[in-house]
Amino acid sequence: MPAILAIESTCDETAAAVVVDGTLVRSNVVASQAAIHAKFHGVVPEIAGRAHIENILPVLKEALEQADMTLAQVDAVAVAYRPGLIGSLLIGVTAAKTLAWAAAKPLIGVDHVQAHLYSVMLQSQGERPTEPVQVVFPAVGLVCSGGHTALYRLDDWTDIRLIGSTLDDAVGEAYDKVSAILAQGYPGGPILDRLARQGDPKAVHFPRTLLGRDSLDFSFSGLKTAVLYHVRGVPGKNRPPRERVVVGKELADIAASFQAACVEVLTVKLKRAAKQSGARCILIGGGVSANNALRAAMQKFPLPVYFPRLEYCTDNAAMSAGLAAVLFQQRQFSSLSLDAITHSQITR
Ligand code: KG4
Ligand code: ZN
Repeated sequence: MPAILAIESTCDETAAAVVVDGTLVRSNVVASQAAIHAKFHGVVPEIAGRAHIENILPVLKEALEQADMTLAQVDAVAVAYRPGLIGSLLIGVTAAKTLAWAAAKPLIGVDHVQAHLYSVMLQSQGERPTEPVQVVFPAVGLVCSGGHTALYRLDDWTDIRLIGSTLDDAVGEAYDKVSAILAQGYPGGPILDRLARQGDPKAVHFPRTLLGRDSLDFSFSGLKTAVLYHVRGVPGKNRPPRERVVVGKELADIAASFQAACVEVLTVKLKRAAKQSGARCILIGGGVSANNALRAAMQKFPLPVYFPRLEYCTDNAAMSAGLAAVLFQQRQFSSLSLDAITHSQITR
């Protein structure tokens, strides 16, 4: 299997990585823009695009340096060219095309969502995997992040079908918005995850939106609004006279109760999807797959469940480099006319 240099710039992380043999991560450099977007409690696309331009070359240089390789030594250049913010994607795609052309290397465009599913396969250099990752197909995959909450049936790493997705907010987006409602920082996921450890998940009963009996779709906007109304009161009904700041035990209880609702919805949908697909294992990727309560809940799942190592949950380029090795083996190369595309190639 080849050594692949990959670039990630789909949203607000500028990243580059070198992965050997599809699984062994030689370097994984991520320049996060979280601090820049924090005051807006979400990603501002124009700011993200400009930051990618500033970060891309230093990040690429560091990824090759850390891998102790030159561009001439890699077998291909990969890039996450979809889905994402167009102004962000364009920077990574342009950089990858330029490197591939200049070094006469094959170019491999990968789907970012597909790469999140593949991230469970990655191993860090010098560390032994904690348990063998033996993905058996068909598998059900869940990508849960700030931009996506979707379920997939995988018959192979490149034979994937969308079987459910969110009708409104992504679960990570709900974490980020609830964190803002609670006057906490951005990104909200890790903050609420930490606060929830001190809280009672049964303190407040927030709604679990499961939609129809067999539905594999998601909806998190009602849950987000329920937290808003719980904190600030219902407009025209019991709105408190002044904005209330929630602190201490109450804050921890709300975080834990919100998290319990998220985790229950995700696990119920995974059970449904596994049953409907005859799945033999479960793959979970994306920023929210770092969540402690989700990981704990899935320990009781009746099938093998694979999560990525923590450093490969949020956006990174190693997952794209790993998936690109599979495409390399299949000779699925892209032409230099590769274009950035805002939506995923995986459809129902
Ligand atoms: O995969 P990612 O870096 O970007 C997207 O593709 O969207 O995911 C970022 C999202 C954010 O919404 C963040 O709040 C959430 O993942 N997140 C978490 C945790 N760590 C990150 N959500 C819940 N628990 C966590 N521990
Ligand atoms: Zn992502």
